[in-house]
Order: sequence, then C-alpha cells, then structure tokens
Amino acid sequence: MRQTLSRLFPCAVAGLFLSVTNLLLCGSLTAQQALTPYSYSSPKKALVTHGAVVSAHPLASQVGVSILQQGGNAFDAAIATQLALAVVYPVAGNIGGGGFMVAHLAKNAATQSKSAAADPNSREIALDFREKAPASATRDMYLDAAGNPVAGLSENGHLASGIPGTIAGIFAELKYAKLPFAKLIQPAIDLAENGFVITAEEARNLNSAQGAFKNFNTVQPVFVKAVDWKKGDTLVQKDLAKTLRLIRNNGAKGFYEGETARLILEEMRRGKGIITAADLQGYHAVVRNPAVFSYKNYSIVTMPLPSSGGVVLQQMLKMVEDQPLAADGFESVKTIHLMTEVERLAYADRAQYLGDRDFYAVPVDTLVSPAYIHSRLAQIPARAGKSRDIKAGVLSPASEETTHLDVIDAKGNAVSITTTLNGGFGNKVVVGGAGFFLNNEMDDFSIKPGVPNMYGAVGTEANSIVPGKRMLSSMSPTIVLDKGKVYLVVGTPGGTTITTSVFQTLVDILDFGLSTDDAVNLPKFHHQWLPDVIYVEPGLSIAVQDSLKVMGYTVAQRGSIGRTEVIKVLPDQHIEAVADSRGDDAAVGY
Ligand code: DON
Repeated sequence: MRQTLSRLFPCAVAGLFLSVTNLLLCGSLTAQQALTPYSYSSPKKALVTHGAVVSAHPLASQVGVSILQQGGNAFDAAIATQLALAVVYPVAGNIGGGGFMVAHLAKNAATQSKSAAADPNSREIALDFREKAPASATRDMYLDAAGNPVAGLSENGHLASGIPGTIAGIFAELKYAKLPFAKLIQPAIDLAENGFVITAEEARNLNSAQGAFKNFNTVQPVFVKAVDWKKGDTLVQKDLAKTLRLIRNNGAKGFYEGETARLILEEMRRGKGIITAADLQGYHAVVRNPAVFSYKNYSIVTMPLPSSGGVVLQQMLKMVEDQPLAADGFESVKTIHLMTEVERLAYADRAQYLGDRDFYAVPVDTLVSPAYIHSRLAQIPARAGKSRDIKAGVLSPASEETTHLDVIDAKGNAVSITTTLNGGFGNKVVVGGAGFFLNNEMDDFSIKPGVPNMYGAVGTEANSIVPGKRMLSSMSPTIVLDKGKVYLVVGTPGGTTITTSVFQTLVDILDFGLSTDDAVNLPKFHHQWLPDVIYVEPGLSIAVQDSLKVMGYTVAQRGSIGRTEVIKVLPDQHIEAVADSRGDDAAVGY
C-alpha cells in the first residue's frame, strides 16, 4: 500500500513515513507555518489538502500559507505574499511597479469576504493595477530631435517609470479578503526590518546590477555593496520597513500621499523624472471583466486588455483547439510547427491592434471571432512561415523580471497574480529614503512605430504613449475552470514569452496529458512574429531542432524561458502545487 500511495502522493507519503525534513521538502506542513528568514530551502512541490501558495521565493510562499492557516482566504494570502515578495525578491517583487490579478470566488465566497461591496455576483474577477503614463508624458518623449530613440531612456532612470499601481491593487484586492490589513503586511515589515538571508540567485542578481545602481541613484541604496553579495548575506531594508509601516497605518494614502509621496517627488526632482503629486493621487486600480472563453471542456479565465494576454491566448488556443495535438505528440516537429505558426499570427495582431482600450478602439470581438480565427488558421503554410509574409489580419470595418504567484484556499477561492517592475530591479532607481525600486514600465509602450522594446515587441498607434494610458502588457495570470470549479491556476514572468509559456503549459496539461512537474519544467519554446526566430530552451531535442531548420525555421537557443507556477486540483480534491525549478521558486501548502 505504501508503494501505491507513494506513487500517487510521493510528497505526502515521504512526509508520513520519513522525516520532518522530507515533509518540508515537499512543501507541506502540518503545524502552523513558521517564518524562517535565516534558513530555508525551496520546496518545489506541495501535495496538500487545504491550501497552497506558489511564488518566486520560499519566504513569500511561507508567509502566504501562514496567513491561510490563520484563517485568511486566498486573497489575504495573495496580499501577504505580494508584500513579502516586495521585500525578499526586490528584482521583481515590488510596491513601485504594477500588475494584474485574475481570481475565482468559490460559491458563497462573497459572504466570506468582509465587504459585500466586492461585487457578490461576480465569480471571476480581473483586477488591473498596471502603471499609467504620467500626465506630462508625450508620444515622442524617448526620441531625439531627429526622431530616433535615445538608447536606454525608456529602460533606465527616472523617466522610464510609469505611475506605480501595486499598492492601489493591493487595497482593491483587500475588498475580497477577510483579515485585517495590519496582519497581512506585518510579515513583510518584519522581513524588511530584521532582514533575511539571500540565496545564490539573489546575490547574482544584485551583483549584476551594481553598476546600474550606482549610475541611476541619487541616494546610495542598501543594495550597493563594496564587496560582492554572496549567498547567506543578510539583507536588511530599514527604509522599506518604514514605508511599509506608513502603508499599514494610512492605507493606500501611506504610499500615494504624505511622506512616501513626498520622497517619490523628491526623487523625481533629483533625477529629472516627471511623476507629479497629482499623478500619484489620481492613480486607481480598475476592476475589469476578465477574458473568459472555452477550450475543449474547460473554461479559461485570463487577463483582458491592457494585457495582450487575453486576446493572444484566446487566439492561440482557439487555433489549436480542433487540431490533433495529442496525436502529433509533445514537442514533435509537427506540434512545434503548428504552435509556432499560431504564435506568429497572434503576435502580428498584437503588434498592430492591441493597446489600452480606454484610449484606443481595439477590435477585440473581431480578433477572437470564430470566422477570423478560421481565416487566420488557413494562412498557415506546410513549411516554415516567414514573418515578412504575415501581417496582422485584415479586419472588416465594423525580461526580464516579473513575478507570478498562485494561491488556492480550502473553500476553492483561487488567485493568480503577475506583478512586475518590468526589467530586473525596474528602472534601477530606489526612491531615496523610501527603500523601494521604481518600475521601467514606460518601455512597454511603443516608443516609435516599429521600434522594438526590450523584449523585441513592436507596436503602433494602438500602444503609443498618451498621458494616463496604460502600456500594453503580456502578463497573463490565468485560471482554468472545470465545470465551474478551479482546476488549474497558472502564470509566469518572461516579457513577451509569458503568453506563449501559458499557452504551452495549458496544452501540455490539457492536450498532451503531461504531469504538472513536466509542464512546468520541460523545455519551452517561443515565437513572437518579430524577430522571425523560434527561441528554444536548452534541452529541447536537437533532432527536432534540426528538422525545424530543414523546414526553413531559424532556431535559436536562449536562456530559461519564464518561471511557470502551477496549482492543480486533483480529482480527489488534493491540491498539487508546483514551483518552477528554473529559480528559487517555492510551493508551500498545508
Ligand atoms: O508587462 C509586461 O509584459 C512586461 N513588463 C513583463 C516583464 C517581464 O515579464 C520581465 N520578466 N521576466
């Protein structure tokens, strides 16, 4: 029996029969989750019965699970995890950036939250806390007098920053939560005040950005160090702890007004940035209708514009829905050919048509209509397509550092959040005296038609800079429902590779029947129309790569693609949470 059980639940059984260490390694704890800032590992898998959190950092996942264990729901845990990530994962976790949440409220969950105002009728929620262009931003602000892009201006330094949205997002999430905010933010305050030991990966991240930190800061931040950072060093962030206490005491005003706002404005003045007091005070997160569509027998719930994720993922999944993917085989030449061509078509439309719908009329309904999907599918050639031959469809008139977290609770509420500073450590500027990095999200706008951004994405008018507009994103926090109940919670960082990674992860599980671990960890590939290249991770079969080249594809190997986190609800209602092995990511549950 032990063998059968262990095949079904390797982690749980290891925990039952072996030692406490194994229990920890499996990410499953029975006692209340204790925070261990000075000694921790990165459990990659949790097989549990109550709830789970997967995030880019073990301490943040621990914080989230401890909140669930104290009676919090998935929203409480997500808020606490997000705030902890802002401390322990400064490369991408943030309060100076923005992001998106997609969530599912389990039946009767509205009565579990403390506010009936949190739209009790809405079971699927999309929350947009994406940064916005400041009021004095202009269309050509990153171009020189001759109309050419000034290298790096939209990527580094004060001018690269959009108005931060994360704290407004967290207070919008709080409407669905149960516990007092002070309880949710306290672990982050403690981690910032007392410090935590950093991992080898974090030491590498911090070391690689030392030059940029020195160049772009007006006040020396704690991240600058005379000797290299190394694994096991303690990172203490007193200024950040002070800012978090202001937020604890004053709510969103503790960030957008008062002392923190004053420090942001002083930082802007010192670095010739353009964010004003009115920009900060005027920022609001927006509850949007999520993109919801069927794929086979499942319902996919994902982020609408200003994320391109909703439209692009729907186009890609709908193009492959009736294709014999499973028969063609996982990562076979035939499958990669089809998925690449589908990606090429969807990303050509992304470049042409997608942007913030509050500012630009995006023909979403046409782009995802069955007739249009059908006509695009008909354009796929038998051999390698060429991006120069593929343009956006003709419509009839009518990173890399972001971070993702998944949470599920015992009631079946699920939260999927992708949040970012855009590049690693954002614009590299730490707000003097306030201790947090600002984003460089302005680079996600199309700074000039046809000029690629840092992820190689091109755009047009739809994604041009306009004051108050949100820059187009690829972040695609996603939930898959099976008969109205949560089946999968999925997401990843990775710039433009985000949507193709979510696409790949979904077909890996839903079509190829891959295990969650394999769907997360096996090599990924990516095509985005321009450049006309299939990027593949090391480990993707060389024979398959060679055959694709013979078909006419350019194939290029690159570093890791994304950090995919997945929670899956098994038929017996056990929760399987899997963290990506490409980083320190950790799956914890109880
Ligand atoms: O919103 C976007 O699409 C980008 N700013 C995301 C950046 C990102 O994922 C970087 N990470 N690896």
